[in-house]
Amino acid sequence: DWTMAAYRAEAIQKIRNQVGKGRVICGLSGGVDSSVAAVLIHEAIGDQLTCVYVDHGLMRAGESEQVVSLFREHYNIPLVHVDASELFLGQLDGVTDPEKKRKIIGGLFIDVFDAEANKIGGADFLAQGTLYPDVIESVSAIGGPSVTIKSHHNVGGLPARMKMKLVEPLRELFKDEVRALGRELGLPEAFVGRHPFPGPGLAIRIPGAITREKADTLRKADAIYIDEIRKAGLYDEIWQAFSVLLPVNTVGVMGDERTYEAVLALRAVTSTDGMTADYYPFEHAFLGRVATRIINEVKGVNRVVYDVTSKPPGTIEWE
Ligand code: XMP
Repeated sequence: DWTMAAYRAEAIQKIRNQVGKGRVICGLSGGVDSSVAAVLIHEAIGDQLTCVYVDHGLMRAGESEQVVSLFREHYNIPLVHVDASELFLGQLDGVTDPEKKRKIIGGLFIDVFDAEANKIGGADFLAQGTLYPDVIESVSAIGGPSVTIKSHHNVGGLPARMKMKLVEPLRELFKDEVRALGRELGLPEAFVGRHPFPGPGLAIRIPGAITREKADTLRKADAIYIDEIRKAGLYDEIWQAFSVLLPVNTVGVMGDERTYEAVLALRAVTSTDGMTADYYPFEHAFLGRVATRIINEVKGVNRVVYDVTSKPPGTIEWE
């Protein structure tokens, strides 16, 4: 695609102009955006770039392995893998307010990036895969320009104490353009086509207080849901699908036993840029199959519901 080839060349030049001989840290989240940003920046400045993948304990099943192997094996780009789950889950302990969760996570990301920057003798820039819709949604809203709906951790949510300047080479792009750029840069199709995943991860899919046990339960349930979506051949038709673990227990019956366990909500939407979205009209048989599997296979969940809210008035994530 000639336009993407031209964009790539231009973006590389811009990055070189901005960064000069400076050192850059790039935070990887496991999503397409930060991966594309990292590969692009690596092409522009080579080993002036250090990629840092922070596992906050709120990633999807298998995520860490996939990111690490993409960078180390497929691209041969050095990658620092930080297991910060104790830090993040510790600071999030007992926190229920969605915006507080986002602020805590944004702040801890910066702490971890700062610490990694210090280890390499300091960095001048922090690179992020911020997209155009992230920029718009963090500063504007349906109600008017002064309302923040959600602080995306990679835009408005950064604490003022951060000293590094930002490098955001995707700031003018929409998701489909980032995917095209990813293909242009040779990212594997399976990676380019992945559903978006928010920086705060499963934290914003566990309304109420977060625990490691809840994150584990959610990861297991979500892996089954996504597996069934893939088996049904629907993955690429859907913009984003995920599960939400509700802070509500309900009564059920398994065999002869009374159960009292959590409710899991399934969400799937179609969209072109994440700014508006429609809920995905699964067949009932599909939903029934997923519910049966999750309740049988995941301890701690005894009821599954499907979210039929579009955006607006709902947002895609629940927090
Ligand atoms: P909402 O929930 O605002 O989500 O309708 C729109 C899209 O943005 C993703 N999202 C985020 N991505 N950092 C990110 O990188 C964030 O803090 C964040 N919050 C939401 C969401 O998954 C959806 O694709």
